[in-house]
Amino acid sequence: MLPAATLAGDDGDTEDAVSSPAKIVIAHRGASGYLPEHTLAAYALAHGMGADYIEPDLVLTRDGHLICLHDIYLQATTNVEQVFPDRAREDGRWYAADFSLAEVRRLEAEERLGNRFPKGGSRFAVPSFVEMIELVQGLNERTGRTVGIYPEIKAPAWHRGEGLPMEEELLEVVERYGYRESGAPIFVQSFEAESLKRLRALGSELPQVFLMAEVAQYRSFLSAEGIGRVATFADGIGPAKTMLERQPELIGWARDAGLTIHPYTFRADQVPNRHGSHEAELERYLFELGVDGVFTDYPDRARAVLDRR
Ligand code: G3P
Ligand code: CA
Repeated sequence: MLPAATLAGDDGDTEDAVSSPAKIVIAHRGASGYLPEHTLAAYALAHGMGADYIEPDLVLTRDGHLICLHDIYLQATTNVEQVFPDRAREDGRWYAADFSLAEVRRLEAEERLGNRFPKGGSRFAVPSFVEMIELVQGLNERTGRTVGIYPEIKAPAWHRGEGLPMEEELLEVVERYGYRESGAPIFVQSFEAESLKRLRALGSELPQVFLMAEVAQYRSFLSAEGIGRVATFADGIGPAKTMLERQPELIGWARDAGLTIHPYTFRADQVPNRHGSHEAELERYLFELGVDGVFTDYPDRARAVLDRR
């Protein structure tokens, strides 16, 4: 384990990711535009590309370890079907919650999207959350930068139903690695308001971001009053970026409630037609709509847009 002191650079400078009001680059699933998502390679590349925060999505194994994975299933981004052909549930899916950490370590992580990292002989693993943190803190120590972490707990209500509460485990791990106070270089994110409330009830003062998607369950939050309620359990919102185009008032409501705004997800290989280029889309959100940061699969491209201002 790395000591908590590694949260700051050698000179004690924690400005990069902690106290600066500068807009931030959040490496979405690592530098996932270039390397398979949620691999140590993708996280390391994101660090080298100048990300301010690196995002691991998290699920739990059967024996209660947090691992870095977007889906609660393993088959979309690993070779689980080949290694454990008989371990799917009746619905035909291989759930991470049915596997021990030792079993997950036998898997290879694979590129999710056909147009991205080429299939070949490269071998990647599914990292644990602890391994992800140690990678980021190790790189912070070696570079003198303070890159933060931006963990999302995936499907916490579902996990709780499986007898695997996530919030307690998340807090135990991050506290062990020195993320303890409101100024720590971390944002904890969830699509589930109840989970963020539970983290507060457990005593966490860490910055929290409430994720929102364009589906019915978030409609009650899409008003000045609704966003005001978000401010009782979160420090920021993470809306799908299209929500801000459709309802730009959200930005003013969030500002009035003192919430930061980090929309998702910016992808150089999936630029909506109305934007002339990936950079034009980033400029639109960062400087016209005025958001505080972006989740991006291409952290180098967002870094360049911010750095030329
Ligand atoms: O957490 C922000 C963004 O990553 C939410 O979408 O599905 O990529 O986790 P998803
Ligand atoms: Ca996420």
